[in-house]
Parts: sequence; structure tokens; C-alpha cells
Amino acid sequence: MSDSSTKLNAAPQTPAAGAMGNVPTIRLDGVHKNYDLGEIQVHALRGVTMEIYPGEFVAVMGSSGSGKSTLMNILGCLDKPTRGRYFLDGKDVSGLTKHELAKIRSQKIGFVFQQFNLLSRTSALENVELPTIYAGVPLEERERRAEEALKRVGLADRADHFPSQLSGGQQQRVAIARALVNSPSLLLADEPTGNLDSRTSIEIMQILQELNQEHGLTVVIVTHEPDIAQFAKRALEFRDGKMIKDVLIQRRSIAAEILPTLPVLDEEDALDEIASTQPEAGPNGNSTPQK
Ligand SMILES: Nc1ncnc2c1ncn2[C@@H]1O[C@H](COP(=O)(O)OP(=O)(O)OP(=O)(O)O)[C@@H](O)[C@H]1O
Ligand SMILES: [Mg+2]
Repeated sequence: MSDSSTKLNAAPQTPAAGAMGNVPTIRLDGVHKNYDLGEIQVHALRGVTMEIYPGEFVAVMGSSGSGKSTLMNILGCLDKPTRGRYFLDGKDVSGLTKHELAKIRSQKIGFVFQQFNLLSRTSALENVELPTIYAGVPLEERERRAEEALKRVGLADRADHFPSQLSGGQQQRVAIARALVNSPSLLLADEPTGNLDSRTSIEIMQILQELNQEHGLTVVIVTHEPDIAQFAKRALEFRDGKMIKDVLIQRRSIAAEILPTLPVLDEEDALDEIASTQPEAGPNGNSTPQK
């Protein structure tokens, strides 16, 4: 899985054809992001322009420090551009206040992190329920929605488990259920398979492909691994805060076809895996960019 020498099976043309006429889910227009560290300024994004249409599945690649997480945080309304515009579903959100952005985020966007970011002393079901509280979903509706989201990621029977009683892959599935619970139209995942073994990574990609294919969710993931990007429909590459490549994936990998050909973890491996994963507790499932 970490064979970074593998070349992406990608066509060298820029996509977007076929989606013309639709309002893009994401439109960035000359987006810059500077981090002000007093004496020095870090130019994390240097004029990014792109469109992502409803139903796309995009992989964002690029070396460490190239601006991927900075981009995702802006797309996820966790941060704002220093300059340039971000249109989400056609609406300019670049000038909104933190409070307004938080509201939009809870209605439209699900976010998944590399470190899962589950609350450790809280059951899977309660972790998934949290965003419904912030979204003001009525009490009687919350649990039902959380159960439904857990079912969608195949974890209905683990609702009462705490994160420490779940494998890494299961914890990431809980995190995906939490991202889905408010029925977003956009799912953003920053290195969702970065802490997982190859089989578990493909299981996560299967869930993302299914959400994209069957539920029409627009999906954007960050990954360092060409094998993982191969599950997307389109790949973007970043270098030094600029987008240097935008290609359609050729001969896309389909997780549901690959999984049956892979060996299954035996019971002992699964227990070892649970013992080796430590959940990260963030206050609300959100966090600063993972390094
Ligand atoms: N909060 C911050 N304050 C100051 N500089 C930051 C901050 N976050 C990121 N940076 C800097 O911005 C640049 C882009 O960082 P970013 O986290 O977006 O990279 P990345 O592509 O996600 O890298 P990685 O693959 O290691 O996760 C880097 O130079 C980084 O040091
Ligand atoms: Mg990053």
C-alpha cells in the first residue's frame, strides 16, 4: 500500500467535461492561504483555482507540506482563504463569520481525519450522535439517525462499544458514520487510511465508493498513496501550495471487487490491531490539521 513508486493510472487531460452546466459543489477562485507567524509568513496556498462537481470522487495528492490539509480545511469551512474566493454550492462563503461557517459545515459537510478523533469515553453511538446535537436535531430523532449512520458503515452491532474496544478500521468507520449523520452532500477525508493496514484501507475505500456511487455523495480525500488515489475518479496534485496536475483516473480500482481476493485477518491479528490503536480524543471530533 505504501509503494509510492507506483505510478497513477491517469489520463493527462483535465476533467470537468460532462459536468458542465451543473453548479459546482466546490469552486475555488484564486485562493491563497498565508499563515502569519509574526516575523515570517508561510504561503501554504498560492492561487488555487478549481471546480469539483456533484458526484465527483477526487483524490488530492502531493508531498508533505504542499498544502493539502490547508486546502481541505478551507473546503471544509474550518478555515478561510486569506485571498480569493470559495463558492460552496454556488454560494460565496469566503467572507462568512466563524459562526456562519460552522452552521454551513454542520448542514453540508462531513469531515473525516487520519486519527479518527473519536471521544474515548463515549460509545460509538454517542460519538456518531454528537454532530446532531450541534445541528439542533430533536432529541428523539438523534439516536435513530446515529443508528442509521452506523448501519450504513456496517457497525450496527458495535453501537455500545467504546473506541478502545474497536479496531482502527472500525474506529474510522465510526468516524465516517459521524461525518454522515447530518446527511451532508460533501464528504472530505484528510488521509482517512493513513493509519490503517492495506486490507482495512480498502474496506474504507469500499465504503467511500459506495457512498459516492449509490448515495451520490461528492467525495474529496487526501492521500499519499497512489494505490488509494486509484479508487477515486480524478486526481489533483499539489506542490508548494499550487495545483500542478488535474487528471482523470484510468482503470479505476473498485474496492468491492478487490476485497474478496484478499486474505482476511484472523482473530489474533484483529486483537493485536485493537491493542495497538489508541483513540485520539478531540473536544468535538474536529481538530487542527494532522501532521
Ligand atoms: N496552523 C499553521 N500555522 C503555520 N503554518 C502552517 C499551519 N498549518 C500548516 N502550515 C504550513 O503550511 C504549509 C502547508 O501545510 P499543510 O498542512 O497544508 O501540508 P500537507 O500537504 O497537508 O502536508 P502533510 O502531507 O504533511 O499532511 C506547510 O509549510 C506547513 O508548515
Ligand atoms: Mg496534511
